[in-house]
Amino acid sequence: MRILAIETSCDDTSLALISRKDKMFVVEKNLVSSQVDTHTLYGGVVPEVAARMHAEQIAPLLYTLEIPQDGSTIDAVAVTTGPGLVPSLRVGVACATTLAKAWQKPLVAVNHLEGHLYSCWLSEKSPVFPCIALLVSGGHTELILMKDHGFYEYLGRTRDDAAGEAFDKVAKLLGLGYPGGPIISKKALNGRKDAIAFPRPMKDSVDFDFSFSGLKTAVAYHLKDHPDDRPEDICASFQDAVVDILVSKTLKAVEKYQPASVLLAGGVSANNSLRETLKQTLSNCFPQVHYHIPPFAYTTDNAAMVGVAAFFHLQKNNFVDPLTLVADPNLSLSSL
Ligand code: KG4
Ligand code: ZN
Repeated sequence: MRILAIETSCDDTSLALISRKDKMFVVEKNLVSSQVDTHTLYGGVVPEVAARMHAEQIAPLLYTLEIPQDGSTIDAVAVTTGPGLVPSLRVGVACATTLAKAWQKPLVAVNHLEGHLYSCWLSEKSPVFPCIALLVSGGHTELILMKDHGFYEYLGRTRDDAAGEAFDKVAKLLGLGYPGGPIISKKALNGRKDAIAFPRPMKDSVDFDFSFSGLKTAVAYHLKDHPDDRPEDICASFQDAVVDILVSKTLKAVEKYQPASVLLAGGVSANNSLRETLKQTLSNCFPQVHYHIPPFAYTTDNAAMVGVAAFFHLQKNNFVDPLTLVADPNLSLSSL
């Protein structure tokens, strides 16, 4: 079984070839063409520019995969259909539907968030159900209970900004560039996390929801009052607040739902402090719970994770019609 997977939901054009061997996934190829240098000029992703760049990049990437013209080495085509930026999503959907129709291959629609969750199946061992997943990206911050493949129950989500968005906005406040997460986490290495006591909004609330916009505002006020503070200290203290909130809420969910595994996924799962703090805290408090994180290369947007999610859809014969498939920018996890 070899799947061609396509991901264009935001600002990375990605194509992957995924196969399965000895119950493990093999990423034969995972090509990612990043648009970050272009969007940096605007301080964030410009949807129309992103779509145009996807349209320019997708065919050259496809040629690089060296698939025969009749698609004979491919068993199925998978594509992200949402959530995301609709002009961007449409480029991937147009490419996937055309190929599936021309090659007469099954077509699988994958939810982008589901793709991130399945990036954890690219770790050394497959997760055991039930799983609690902390999904943290530029657009989403969610705690999800996954009882089996394809069964998702939302436990909580952000009420305003996503965790990645908070990293991006704080980096902008500090004039550090885009995307903020990698830049802030690098600067934080040389800062003191106890330098500034930033607030931890909703850390102790009774639900599993999050809120990051107040934290971002606290950083803005702090900068106004202390313009000469070291950016490294601000980054380390801000990162510590985000990690503290995310880890505390995840632990609370583990305590209540007693899962077999905890998954950490989405672009913010690239954050080393978050990866390590969650690992340490879990092994101290719940040593029996397995912990899964994607290999670093599959933390931010990539098509390999889309191919993995598609594999489980294929097992259930969850195909879609290439003539009617459309992108859905607001696709929710439960609607697939
Ligand atoms: O999953 P992703 O690639 O795209 C979305 O689906 O949103 O996530 C991108 C987000 C950005 O907000 C970026 O700043 C954040 O992930 N990110 C990080 C790190 N690397 C990427 N946040 C914190 N620390 C990092 N090392
Ligand atoms: Zn993503």
